[in-house]
Amino acid sequence: MYKHLIIEDWGHAQLITIHRPEALNALNLEVFRELKDHLLSIQPQIRCLLITGSGEKAFVAGADISEFKSMAPGSAKSFLMLGNSVMDMIEQFHIPVIALINGFALGGGCELALACHLRIASEKARFGMPEINLGILPGYGGTQRLTQLIGKTKALEMILTGEMIDAREALSLGLVNHVVPDGTVLDKGKELAMKMSSKAPMSVRAVIKAINASHQDINDGISLEGDLFTLLADSSDFKEGTTAFFEKRKPIFTGR
Ligand code: COA
Repeated sequence: MYKHLIIEDWGHAQLITIHRPEALNALNLEVFRELKDHLLSIQPQIRCLLITGSGEKAFVAGADISEFKSMAPGSAKSFLMLGNSVMDMIEQFHIPVIALINGFALGGGCELALACHLRIASEKARFGMPEINLGILPGYGGTQRLTQLIGKTKALEMILTGEMIDAREALSLGLVNHVVPDGTVLDKGKELAMKMSSKAPMSVRAVIKAINASHQDINDGISLEGDLFTLLADSSDFKEGTTAFFEKRKPIFTGR
């Protein structure tokens, strides 16, 4: 049915697996389109969604850098719109959405996990915002949602260094709800999904709505993030960062 999504139902819970193993499940426009179509088609009997990545290595290793690389000058903010609308749909979704983080959750992959309501990490999961290494910044709400979840001090460190943290540190920062042994994220996800699916659907919907309202409105912040992203995406350093990634070498940034 989809090229990059595998859908499996277990009673009231549904597992969505992002399947692009050749690019460590990186999010390209096609994945975002499929996710959006799928979220719009969720049947009423489904009471909890689980999102994971295909394979052993990655949840999602970021937005697809080759697509970023080919963005037309000045078009970055509109390029981000689809992905941002999917992140927003997930955050506002009427049933709980749980990220099952089985490996790398980097850049857009970390941002996808942040947009979900709960996060379960395997012991070998790694989290990071490496966009700074490409000469850009997180563009799918990461500057806002990460800061809300773990606070300004650690969010600045993670985004400014681009370094990864492990699952235990993510737990201690409040970035994830649970850390479980490798290979058991799905079991823990099903357990939580089963619990939440047995609750009154109207209560569940109301709780998500009310808790989302407790956050400061992040739309202005996400819009500013998009403007800054556009500026950076037109820079020479961004060209250098993305070229260096595919050439598997360190970038040389010049500040232009
Ligand atoms: N976009 C596009 N392709 C990606 C990708 C991404 N975000 N992340 C990984 N890939 C591709 C690689 O280009 C590579 O393709 P190849 O086999 O054709 O060379 C393949 O996935 C495997 O990745 P590789 O880098 O060889 O694996 P690794 O084990 O050495 O490193 C990571 C794993 C996750 C540390 C590394 O892939 C990485 O840093 N990815 C990018 C993370 C990132 O910057 N994300 C933010 C994007 S905005």
